Amino acid sequence: MLVTYGSSSEFLARAIAKEIGLTLVETNRRRFPDGEQYVRVMGNVSGEDVAVVQSLGMNPDALFIEYSFLVDALKGAGCRHVIAVIPYLAYTRQDSRFHSGEALSVKLMAKFIEGVGTDRLITIDMHLHRYNEIGNVFKIPATNLSAMPLLAEYYRKNYGSQKTVVVGPDVESEQWAKVVAGKLFAPYTILEKQRLGDRDIKISGELSTEVNRVVLVDDIVCTGKTLIEVVSKLRTQGVKRVDALVTHALLVEGALSKLREAGLSELISTDTVPNQCARVSIAPLIADELKKRAFK
Ligand code: R5P
Repeated sequence: MLVTYGSSSEFLARAIAKEIGLTLVETNRRRFPDGEQYVRVMGNVSGEDVAVVQSLGMNPDALFIEYSFLVDALKGAGCRHVIAVIPYLAYTRQDSRFHSGEALSVKLMAKFIEGVGTDRLITIDMHLHRYNEIGNVFKIPATNLSAMPLLAEYYRKNYGSQKTVVVGPDVESEQWAKVVAGKLFAPYTILEKQRLGDRDIKISGELSTEVNRVVLVDDIVCTGKTLIEVVSKLRTQGVKRVDALVTHALLVEGALSKLREAGLSELISTDTVPNQCARVSIAPLIADELKKRAFK
């Protein structure tokens, strides 16, 4: 097996290749004067299974086109199987036609990924709210790993967990809150979230007892609005310290400063997308999965 990468994930691909002791195939990527993309795979991939690491964080459309060109380049050069390593899979939050006339983006993304020739997919903490299982979205073999145990371990080692309550902002976060609470030997509470717009969130629900310290848990922080609402609510209720563990930190529009202003102490995330709060690498998680599930 070989490892290669697209623009969003060169660093991660190097870490994965190093972790598992595999050769990294370099890629050339550039744009033509009119903005069209060009990719070239710079190694012999004939007869090989190749893991293509490409997170779809910021600018997902362009990153996906680049990914699809990489798959075509690999298959054209005789590669046997392509394993998509897409740690952050974009467009998964539109997992329903919430209003008539909308596209069902998550299903379409699955069709695109399969349609370009992907043989297997590995992703991390995919937003699977209304589909529950990754197998309900993809027809190809697909694995959804969770970074929550790693985030929780990191937190416990570096911050301790005495008298901490784990809080999830909405019903979907319960799966992660449960895992983190288990690792921290702490209780957890789930709040209720109502999304009123892209940047407009309403959080309801209370902590049942007086709490000094809270760890928030979520899959994605994007504008930060969800966490800001929860942090403000908790701080108003008298919680002295609020930290957050989040797998995918997109942090758009100054989200981190706004979170700090709202009273968040630490945001700890992974490197699924490059970000300034990435303290936990998911490279070992991916490397283990590649070792286990490599094509025979
Ligand atoms: C949505 O249900 C997700 O789990 C996250 O809570 C959400 O995507 C966070 O987005 P934002 O930071 O923009 O509120």
